Amino acid sequence: MSTKIVIGAQWGDEGKGKIIDILAQESEVVVRSSGGNNAGHTVEADGVEYKLHLVPSGILNPQTLCIIGTGVVVDPKALLEELEMFESRGINTDNLKIDYRAHIIMPYHTVLDGLMEAARGKGDIGTTKKGIGPCYMDKTERIGIRFCDLIDEEEFISRTKANVEIKNKIITKIYGGEPLCADEIIKEYLGYAQRLKKYAADTTVLLYNAIKEGKKVLFEGAQGTLLDIDLGTYPFVTSSHPITGGVCVGTGIGPTMIDECIGVMKAYTTRVGKGPFPTELFDEVGDRIREVGHEYGATTGRPRRCGWFDAVISKFGVRTSGLTTIALNKLDTLAGIPVLKICVAYKKGDEIITEFPASLKELAKCEPVYEELPGWNEDISGIRKYEELPLNVRKYVERVEQLCGAKVGMIGVGPGRHQNILR
Ligand code: GDP
Ligand code: IMO
Ligand code: MG
Repeated sequence: MSTKIVIGAQWGDEGKGKIIDILAQESEVVVRSSGGNNAGHTVEADGVEYKLHLVPSGILNPQTLCIIGTGVVVDPKALLEELEMFESRGINTDNLKIDYRAHIIMPYHTVLDGLMEAARGKGDIGTTKKGIGPCYMDKTERIGIRFCDLIDEEEFISRTKANVEIKNKIITKIYGGEPLCADEIIKEYLGYAQRLKKYAADTTVLLYNAIKEGKKVLFEGAQGTLLDIDLGTYPFVTSSHPITGGVCVGTGIGPTMIDECIGVMKAYTTRVGKGPFPTELFDEVGDRIREVGHEYGATTGRPRRCGWFDAVISKFGVRTSGLTTIALNKLDTLAGIPVLKICVAYKKGDEIITEFPASLKELAKCEPVYEELPGWNEDISGIRKYEELPLNVRKYVERVEQLCGAKVGMIGVGPGRHQNILR
């Protein structure tokens, strides 16, 4: 078997897209298992940049079968736009399959995402407003519309009519919004169904057979560990399971079929949206990291909050996903900062906390405990061998590995496909 999961071990945007694209060169199947078009995965291949939201990052490799698994929430309009973008750039998308069980993002989900955020006022989550949370809410409420329902006209019409009636009450009576027209939605979505039905498949069978045949399968995580609905900084999280456990649920594959779990981290920490962030920097170092690292959201364009590497959260990522390897990206971005800090624990009064707390109230009382490491001035973006990295870079990598408790097997020194060091 050769199956690898790649997940984000921080708050998302760790550079998963780049790692998937590198590993996809030798993978026969690439699978998305959770989230939706809240994700923004950047791939830079041969100097051309692509931002992927729903389509698996293996699409650039024509030989790779790309699967949108059961746990993904699919906005058909956004998906079609993304497919058109690829086709217009000469990339064939025929090798995409979408599972019958994947839930569909409906217009009332997007409308409610916006209204619910506005109603939260200052306590808003800072969602991407793509309808992700409301779609997962309907899934667990058991009134969701799945891909198999979208491509079954009769089923789609009856489910949509029933749902729009309920949602319009919520939209107008609770949130004071404008009602939606079921007939218009039906007309629009049946058009999408016509265009998307050729991609429909029971991907759980395709995947099972591919793994049994010994094919190389890559599972592409979305979001990040601290955004997990169970394990993240609740309620400032997304509504799915970005951890490795979520991959099994979101693809219909058992845990015994997974060989390797790779966690992607940045050499510092970023977060987009609201919620706690213990090592956040509000000074010129944070601004410098944002500018040098181009830390602006791939989906919403929002500036990302930047801070020092937090080993408490990264260790949490290693533990909760059983990570076997770390891919540490963006070491090049830290060049020129004379002294680098790594958070090794939190301090709450006189107490030293080494495990990430569940309660945000507890977390708010925590101050980071920093260890200082010497920086480097060298441009490392052209280096391809670990031994050729400056000593201080290697010291930094080795300290991260020691603190997190997993081997750093890949090191990112730039956004390009080849700007990666295998160790
Ligand atoms: P994802 O959501 O985890 O796929 O990450 P994003 O694409 O949202 O954000 C990561 C950003 O960092 C993208 O702009 C990547 O092109 C870029 N990137 C990834 N790895 C590296 C690296 O090692 N160095 C630099 N400078 N940029 C990187
Ligand atoms: P990738 O896959 C970073 C964040 C949002 C918000 C919270 C909830 O590119 O790493 P949602 O729209 O999901 O209900 O928003 O989750 N968020 C992400 N942050 N990277 C992502 O994806 C994210 N997907 C969602 O900013 O804080
Ligand atoms: Mg992203």
